[in-house]
Amino acid sequence: MAAPRPLVAGNWKMNGLKASLGELEAIRDAVKAGGAGRAEAALCPPFTLVAAVAAAAEGSPLAIGAQDCHAKVSGAHTGDISAQMLKDSGATYVITGHSERRADHGETDAIVRAKAAAAIKAGLTAIVCVGETKDERVGGKALDVVSGQIEGSLDPDFPATNLVVAYEPVWAIGTGLTPTAADVAEMHAHIRAKLEKTYGRKGVDIRILYGGSVKPENAAELMGVKNVDGALVGGASLKAKDFMGIAGVYK
Ligand code: 13P
Repeated sequence: MAAPRPLVAGNWKMNGLKASLGELEAIRDAVKAGGAGRAEAALCPPFTLVAAVAAAAEGSPLAIGAQDCHAKVSGAHTGDISAQMLKDSGATYVITGHSERRADHGETDAIVRAKAAAAIKAGLTAIVCVGETKDERVGGKALDVVSGQIEGSLDPDFPATNLVVAYEPVWAIGTGLTPTAADVAEMHAHIRAKLEKTYGRKGVDIRILYGGSVKPENAAELMGVKNVDGALVGGASLKAKDFMGIAGVYK
């Protein structure tokens, strides 16, 4: 069976001002020129830039996403943003359950699942993040922790076509550390098996991204691992040259 089309998504986190639109334009133009090869490329800027970035990317193959959404469509939730608003702003993806939100905002698996459900209902594709901490890895619990997160954060009723899973070991985020290729292979095979159990044959086509210190220098090795269908890139997505150095692995 053919592997799903890879996705290389950039997560700008809490970075980016209007002045950053130059990097976005450079990424857009590079993707348009075929720089991401057979991969799909997406950028997830902060909420404040979603509409501007979506307008700048309109008509190009670069997809736009956001980094979070509320579980409700609208209402009295000061400071929150709904999936419908993101769709209205031109987004097609939204990250849910990033470890920084799980840690900073106490997001549980149940909250992540509700957010992903809202995203899918609004017509977005949810990029649901999972991953173990250093202590959990050292304690030999990584596979169990990720199993629990998948069971808790994904609804078996989600349409597989609107779902992406990102494996991001917490200890690899922003640290320059990465798991060995063998550990990535083991975890991604584990996630694939869980997705197939939950979604049947459609689980084969759900993209499983690796995230955590992906750089142009290590992208080929990490993206070459079986069941790795692309990357979720933090720091290296802020610079067009670095982001394209990663996406360019698929040329
Ligand atoms: P870094 O690529 O900066 O390690 O961040 C990974 C990440 O958290 C992407 O969501």
